[in-house]
Amino acid sequence: MAAARAAWRRVMAEREAPRFHPLDPRDAEHAFEKLPELSARCPVSHQTHASFDPITLVASYEHVSDVYHRRGEFSNRYGHSILVKPGELHNANNLFTLDGESHRRVRRILVSALTPRHVEAAVPYIMQLAESVVRAIPDSGRVELRSAWATLIPGKAVAHLIGVPDADHNNFFHWTMQKMAALTRVTQGQATVADVRAAEAPFNEFLDEQLRRRRSGEVTSDDILTRLLALEDEEGGGKLSDEEIRANCMFLLNAGNQTTQNLLTSLVHQLVTSGLWRTLRQDRSLVPLAIEESLRLTPPIQYGVRRPVHDIEIGGCPVRHDTPVVLSHVAANRDPRVWGDHGDEFRLDRTNSEKHLGFGMGPHACIGSAAARKIALIAMNALLDRFESLALAPDFQWKRQDYWTSLGMTSLEVVWAK
Ligand code: HEM
Repeated sequence: MAAARAAWRRVMAEREAPRFHPLDPRDAEHAFEKLPELSARCPVSHQTHASFDPITLVASYEHVSDVYHRRGEFSNRYGHSILVKPGELHNANNLFTLDGESHRRVRRILVSALTPRHVEAAVPYIMQLAESVVRAIPDSGRVELRSAWATLIPGKAVAHLIGVPDADHNNFFHWTMQKMAALTRVTQGQATVADVRAAEAPFNEFLDEQLRRRRSGEVTSDDILTRLLALEDEEGGGKLSDEEIRANCMFLLNAGNQTTQNLLTSLVHQLVTSGLWRTLRQDRSLVPLAIEESLRLTPPIQYGVRRPVHDIEIGGCPVRHDTPVVLSHVAANRDPRVWGDHGDEFRLDRTNSEKHLGFGMGPHACIGSAAARKIALIAMNALLDRFESLALAPDFQWKRQDYWTSLGMTSLEVVWAK
């Protein structure tokens, strides 16, 4: 009887649940208001839409964490795509799209190739880069900070960690974008798998040459490429093949570049709108906290996606195996049950900011979090050094990025404040 009553309450709650589909641009525009409401009224809901496939939307800290921690019940094979149907070409053969033991093997090796110690060794390079980028901002009283600062640091820092020579960074970025664009066109039916192979050819040639130089001893630096050639899986899974190294190096750049750019622009936006810029400039010990608050409130990857491998339940709600589960980091990271009644405020006095799900959780949690935090810290300190105070340009308008899982602004116009 109690179970039947609970099931009835769930059905009623779901009927009354606000409608929200992350692919609908009108919903996306109001995500910060609608998702917390959904979280309060129906944290696990089945969402249908006239133009998009149905999804199960999970919008509370407890249930998002639950899904992230369940092993063997979900697949990552189609990455973040909810448009691709099982059987169609999926993203790529990288760490993120592997499941089970295949995933654990590659992850063990990649984690050993990108430890906090390796990130620490790259600090002098990143500091020099950040200082030169900030120095080059013209003293004009107004600047668009996304293009003049945020886009110029993370990609180069990650490329440096991988071992791409400075002179090849721009090509490396271009080839990666070319392949991603081809993959997107395939999922939209506008290109073939052969087009993807053609798009990735220059990247593959370049990385093969980098691997050859390391194998022959021409290049001896301690970078990710060199380490990946040497590292053996500690549990007997052998080394990565050249193909696995190529796929994962491209993925490291994809995973770490735009995400960290979004973190940087959102953070500056939060600081200038909350009036905390000068506070941070005067007390740099607060910068790491500000970074966590920004990741919490505006997680650069705002949704996780999981495909159930069989029919399951989440928080007592039945979920079909053929319906993708979409996890809202925005809702979880503002959930009043964890962050209190003012979870939507940017504050520097929280003691639990680091609990946010901005880097995911569980078996697929971000392996680049130490790198991202370090890059953001260095880039922010360089900007704080240069500007005593900044304000939004009077004509600035927040315009969100198009890709549905990304959360960030396309530009950030600021002026020097008095
Ligand atoms: C602010 C910057 C970043 C954010 C917000 C971020 C966020 C995330 C999130 C949420 C996931 C898990 C997604 C899921 O489970 O669905 C993830 C995974 C991953 N991230 Fe990051 N990331 C950032 C920077 C980086 C950097 C700098 C790197 C590498 C240099 C990186 C490499 C990866 C990799 C390889 C994975 C896949 C892990 C796996 O599947 O086992 N990320 N990231």
